[in-house]
Amino acid sequence: MSSPLSDKKIVLGVCGSIAAYKSVFLLRELQREDAQVRVVMTPSASNFVAPLTFSSLSGGHVYTEMFPVKKDSGASGLWHIELGTWADAMLIAPITASTIAKLAWGIADNLLTSIVLALRAPLIIAPAMDADMYIHPTTMSNLAKLKARGVTVIDPDEGELASGLTGTGRLAEVGNIIEALKHFFQGRYRDLTGKKILVTAGPTQEPIDSVRFIFNRSSGKMGFAVASAAANRGAEVRLISGPVALETPRNVFRENVATAEEMKQAVIRNVDWCDSMIMTAAVADYRVASPADRKVKKDEFARNGAKLELVENTDILKTVSSMKGNRVFVGFALETDNEIDNAIKKLKSKSLDFIVVNNPREEGAAFGTDTNKVTILSDSGENRVDLPVMSKYDVALRILDRVRSLFPDLS
Ligand code: CTP
Repeated sequence: MSSPLSDKKIVLGVCGSIAAYKSVFLLRELQREDAQVRVVMTPSASNFVAPLTFSSLSGGHVYTEMFPVKKDSGASGLWHIELGTWADAMLIAPITASTIAKLAWGIADNLLTSIVLALRAPLIIAPAMDADMYIHPTTMSNLAKLKARGVTVIDPDEGELASGLTGTGRLAEVGNIIEALKHFFQGRYRDLTGKKILVTAGPTQEPIDSVRFIFNRSSGKMGFAVASAAANRGAEVRLISGPVALETPRNVFRENVATAEEMKQAVIRNVDWCDSMIMTAAVADYRVASPADRKVKKDEFARNGAKLELVENTDILKTVSSMKGNRVFVGFALETDNEIDNAIKKLKSKSLDFIVVNNPREEGAAFGTDTNKVTILSDSGENRVDLPVMSKYDVALRILDRVRSLFPDLS
């Protein structure tokens, strides 16, 4: 499947920040996504990265001067006009406090700032600077001016800064900038702003004794992809996770649980808060009736008939169905046989707006992988969308598109 950035004409602007070296990686990633990229640098950016680095990588001219002496690109020399009309989008990453101020006031004193004034396409900026400069009222008010004019701002991250201080001002991660750009071209950029989304993920773990437990093979990757994509699209996200070996996605609030009962309690506590709940968790259907609080010896287990007495866990979705109201509830069904019929039964019995079905026996949908192949069912199964094998992140985007379409104020 082609990237949303494929063949997109992107002017990549680079300003004089210590983070300028990250633009080199950004250029590589944009090229990997098959975008056509032209690089423009401010005069001070060349103090941090040599224009030759960019021209070697892009295989093209790097635009640095307002008034070129040689017209070696065969261009008219009016590069600000030429690039401003060529671009499908301009991305300035990193952008400094000084360039933000110039753009807010329309100062066109170098090629980059002049292109912005001549730009016919959308502008996306990713600031990088010292934390005090970033939170300075002048910078904040300049950014607010740009936002009000429709400029998309990819907020900087919090963390260690070049100065050795810690604060907000680190250039957003290259992967996140690329993701933001893709969302931008797909019309998904921050389109879930103001919405609160609750996601459950991973398996649950039911103790047998103090060292053993009943577990399942869910990796949690699908749920984490949903949480990450929702946060990237501007939603406020709470993720209730069973035991998994995954990092918490950026801007996601995570609560860890182990058993189905703990997951149920966490869900009950958060349902009121959310606008949508997406239950990707593989909740254990049964737990051990009375788990021992010590290690049970082999002989003792044998003496008791080598049997585990199990009791059924409550169904979390059914438990909270009375709290649904206008909330959008999404369930998952993992089925190895008769998947559509079984999923339709779950769709109806669990009061879901839609259900996402997958069969781990199908190619591209196995446990623990980064891809999935799903079918989305709604309206008692009458509405059916079969998706091809996709990355779990792309599946998450499709699920969120559907959730979004069910929010009356957004659709
Ligand atoms: N689910 C739940 N509470 C449970 C079990 C499942 O809320 N105790 C949710 C899952 O998170 C999922 C949906 O119900 O969104 C379907 O889960 P699944 O395990 O496929 O279905 P079950 O109802 O448990 O049926 P079966 O195991 O027989 O397929």
